[in-house]
Amino acid sequence: MNAMTQIKPGANSELMAAACQDTILAPRFYTTDYAAMDRIDVASVRKDWDALIAEMVGDPNKLHFKRTQPFVGVIESLPDGLRQEFIDFLVSSLTSEFSGCILYAEIAKRVTNPDIKQLFRLLSRDESRHAGFINETLKDAGIGIDLGFLTKAKKYTYFRPKFIFYAVYLSEKIGYARYITIFRHLAKHPELRFHPIFNWFEQWCNDEFRHGEAFAILLRTDPKLLTGLNTLWIRFFLVSVYATMYVRDHNRPAFHKALGMEPTEYDYRVFTICSEITRQVFPLVLDTDAPGFRRAMERMRRIAGRIDAAKEQGGVIGAIKRLGLTAAAGFTFAQLYFTPVKRNVAPATVRLVPAW
Ligand SMILES: [Fe+2]
Ligand SMILES: [Fe+2]
Repeated sequence: MNAMTQIKPGANSELMAAACQDTILAPRFYTTDYAAMDRIDVASVRKDWDALIAEMVGDPNKLHFKRTQPFVGVIESLPDGLRQEFIDFLVSSLTSEFSGCILYAEIAKRVTNPDIKQLFRLLSRDESRHAGFINETLKDAGIGIDLGFLTKAKKYTYFRPKFIFYAVYLSEKIGYARYITIFRHLAKHPELRFHPIFNWFEQWCNDEFRHGEAFAILLRTDPKLLTGLNTLWIRFFLVSVYATMYVRDHNRPAFHKALGMEPTEYDYRVFTICSEITRQVFPLVLDTDAPGFRRAMERMRRIAGRIDAAKEQGGVIGAIKRLGLTAAAGFTFAQLYFTPVKRNVAPATVRLVPAW
């Protein structure tokens, strides 16, 4: 199944605009140095590589994303605030899944290295399924997104392969942590499961976990990627991903309330899981329990809220406010960045099982 040909234009232009909005928090589309990707040699990690590829070729979730019946009327029946936030959650998840899908498909198409080509084909197969499944869910409510349109309208950002690896490794692993935390919580509180899509999360997140494993193995092909100055980049990506998630989740109070989850608690649980997983490769983990770190996260959240307000205000005053707030956000980001981290020595074997 291919998301780009299967998914037909949706009806709701307002939603489409939301998915296309280009803010620092919106998922982006990437392109990279394909020749550098071709030079990657997986010989040093061959055993782990072959085992993972075999698992993905086996396609354990082949039948998982097939529905017996559509989710008719569920979104429409949700109360006002919750409905908007849940749609926002679905649209941003769809955009992430779909940006993964097109990035992976593009790499698979452009590289000649057979190992890399095969991996990225498999990755894009999975993300296409994920994106398609969310879009089906939106279509049940008459608000499917035209994904073909998104690929044309979005701006593409160039990223060096190593930055793609850090960013994508993290987003796959944090994606796993997010989905599994919601799934486990709802398993304990089935009465809070306000939409059937949550039933799909457990096996879904195992795909994300596997995807993360692929990038963990790729990161191990070159020791330079995990040492020296690159540790500063790793720290940068960790702070960016965590802070983005924190700000976004706090913009959905009704969604979290309906799930019976407090966003701060949920986010720190996800960070803890994600940090534990990333010990498989990264030489450091953020100290997300440090009081200074938590205070800075809260400050970041408040500043982001004020930036949104200034945007709405518009005009010269709004622009000046935004400038000041952007500087404040930069300063707060630095505080997060410079909170002392915990050093980590990665284990000899890279592979992990999704045990959370
Ligand atoms: Fe996915
Ligand atoms: Fe994924």
